[in-house]
Amino acid sequence: MAKVLVATEKPFAKVAVEGIKKIVEGAGFTFALLEKYTDPNDLVKAVADADALIVRSDKVTKEVIEAGKNLKIVVRAGAGYDNLDLAACSAKGVVAMNTPGQNSNAVAELAIGMMIFSARGLFQPGTGTEIMGKKLGIHAYGNVGKYVAKYGKGFGMEVYAFDPFVSKDVIEKDGVKVVDTIEELYSKCDYVSLHIPANDKTKKSIGYDILTKMPKGAALINTARKEVIDEEGMKKAFAERADLKYATDIMADCHAELVEKFPGRVFSTPKKMGAETAEANINAGLASANQIVGFIKNGDKTFQVNK
Ligand code: 3PG
Repeated sequence: MAKVLVATEKPFAKVAVEGIKKIVEGAGFTFALLEKYTDPNDLVKAVADADALIVRSDKVTKEVIEAGKNLKIVVRAGAGYDNLDLAACSAKGVVAMNTPGQNSNAVAELAIGMMIFSARGLFQPGTGTEIMGKKLGIHAYGNVGKYVAKYGKGFGMEVYAFDPFVSKDVIEKDGVKVVDTIEELYSKCDYVSLHIPANDKTKKSIGYDILTKMPKGAALINTARKEVIDEEGMKKAFAERADLKYATDIMADCHAELVEKFPGRVFSTPKKMGAETAEANINAGLASANQIVGFIKNGDKTFQVNK
């Protein structure tokens, strides 16, 4: 009987875990749960006899993959799969998948919330600004970017997007203006919402040059990954430009320094919470379970990311 292990350092909502268990057991598989672990070795040990693994941002290293002697599939319940060692998965013939779109709305709602939080001076006493009528730039028009654009329009913002991987027609159909370069996006927009994945091309790609192009009083909203920020460049830009603001859901390595040097201009959630809604947990968790059942029973490899 195939064993499905759910290993989440940051646990799913109880209702999502119950739903995953129901799907797994309903398919005739065994369900196992490892939650809130603090030692990565606990995952190495727990995966030893698992056929399938469901994780969130948990680091699925080469060691984890190799420890899973029976492992056939790993599903990242979420969008970004930079936490999976894809080369190790492929070398061992393990299929790696994500669940695109399943937690996007939750992340988009947080991005909008952070934009307003930033516009209102981090909810501290004093006069803030409104987002209506301001220009919003969507950096990468994927599942989350699309929702942020839609909600931004709902707030009366003028919405722009940069995404060389999405056709102009698709973006324009949503009433969003397309720009051809990131320079254009950042120099035009009062708010830029980041939705790029962290990979070799994007890591440290947002730094001094691009941030100093932003208009006066602009804010960068990051619900994507901290790795895409060049933190040294950001520090330099913020030191030169006393008007720039940063709100992020993924704490910068230099967060304490940013807050100390640039008080009132930098905010980070204590722990990534973009996908921390019951709805997102249920959507991504159940999709993961269904994808595993589909793969083990029918060989369905839809959403495989290590092709
Ligand atoms: C994602 O890539 O899906 C989001 O960043 C959510 O990640 P999480 O599962 O760690 O909350």
